[in-house]
Amino acid sequence: MLTDKRILLIIGGGIAAYKSLLLIRLLRGAGAAVTPVLTHAGAEFVTPLSVSALAGEKVYTDLFDLTDEAEMGHIQLSRVADLIVVAPATADLLAKMAQGRADDLASTLLLATDTGVLVAPAMNVRMWEHAATRRNVAQLAADGVRFVGPDAGEMACGEFGPGRLAEPEAIMAAIRAALTTGPLAGRHVIVTSGPTHEPIDPVRYIANRSSGAQGTAIAAALRDLGADVTFVTGPAAVPAPAGVTVVAVETAAEMLAAVEAALPADAAVMAAAVADWRVANAAGSKMKKDGSGKAPALEFAENPDILATVSKGDARPRLVVGFAAETDDVVAHATAKRLRKGCDWIVANDVSPATGIMGGTENAVTVISADGAESWPRMGKDQVARKLAERIAAALKNS
Ligand code: C5P
Repeated sequence: MLTDKRILLIIGGGIAAYKSLLLIRLLRGAGAAVTPVLTHAGAEFVTPLSVSALAGEKVYTDLFDLTDEAEMGHIQLSRVADLIVVAPATADLLAKMAQGRADDLASTLLLATDTGVLVAPAMNVRMWEHAATRRNVAQLAADGVRFVGPDAGEMACGEFGPGRLAEPEAIMAAIRAALTTGPLAGRHVIVTSGPTHEPIDPVRYIANRSSGAQGTAIAAALRDLGADVTFVTGPAAVPAPAGVTVVAVETAAEMLAAVEAALPADAAVMAAAVADWRVANAAGSKMKKDGSGKAPALEFAENPDILATVSKGDARPRLVVGFAAETDDVVAHATAKRLRKGCDWIVANDVSPATGIMGGTENAVTVISADGAESWPRMGKDQVARKLAERIAAALKNS
């Protein structure tokens, strides 16, 4: 819940401005108070009346509105909020923010504030990818501004690519994360999740039954404790959590590259079910039966071990957690695995079909560390995730 939280919502111009109305409803539903500010461009897309009706408060539009100055000056307006959210943020608004300009109410509030700022950009894909916007975004990130989105997809202008406003639910999750002062605030944690797909030819691949449920729950639990989570996921059955940085990959090689690109991190949790082998002689075009009845001979090559590579690498996070899915002698195998891979903890579980754990909603794990093995009772994957996230927070606390 966001009870007692006040959000100053700046609505910029752009077709995506209509989503800000949904965002206001979600914020109010979560118990937050919303002070809306509508730029002149924003007012071309949504009306002040609909904004103020949904917010249940006066909408502010003009810097030189003397009544507003009498009621509440712009300095005060910029500071009463717990968080300033700019959604949608146009390329022009980002440029003004990056330069510290203050020529209208929105930019003046953003310059006058000492409150955290979360920006949800929305613009044409070429504008988003333009060198000037890239510079402005980098500058704002360096200044401590948080970003959510933009998403990739088809845009109102008919083009395709990154530039769509993040969905209101994702903006809500980012708002929650920005307001979280949890024990992992300021910590970066990488989580791998899901299966990998190793191609045989352009249309066939080798995969496994991992749903990604446990990794997804862990990423969400770490986010809820305030961590900045990079979620590197193979093609999973469950959707990625909101409010984390999602890097979607297919193969083990891509997953390793994505993890290495996300370093440095305070901790890494490798929950992905990475294929041990890839097809070394994968075909460049679809394999066909040749009528001889002879099956093609697939040759395999060993995949890189991401967990071992990160554990033994130069940029090793302070805490590295691996998983061990075993079908027999769980503790003995997992204990050996911890040493072999060089990680700090191994979360071991029995994935024999009879347990129903792989692809199911529950898990029964044993956490193996240098201090020995600790078995947790069978519980929901969400609960395992929360307990593990709390352990991680405690381990990072004193380091
Ligand atoms: O060797 P095994 O696959 O049982 O090890 C499981 C652990 O190692 C998991 O944490 C998994 O994410 C990680 N792993 C990896 N890269 C691989 C194989 C496994 O990161 N190629």
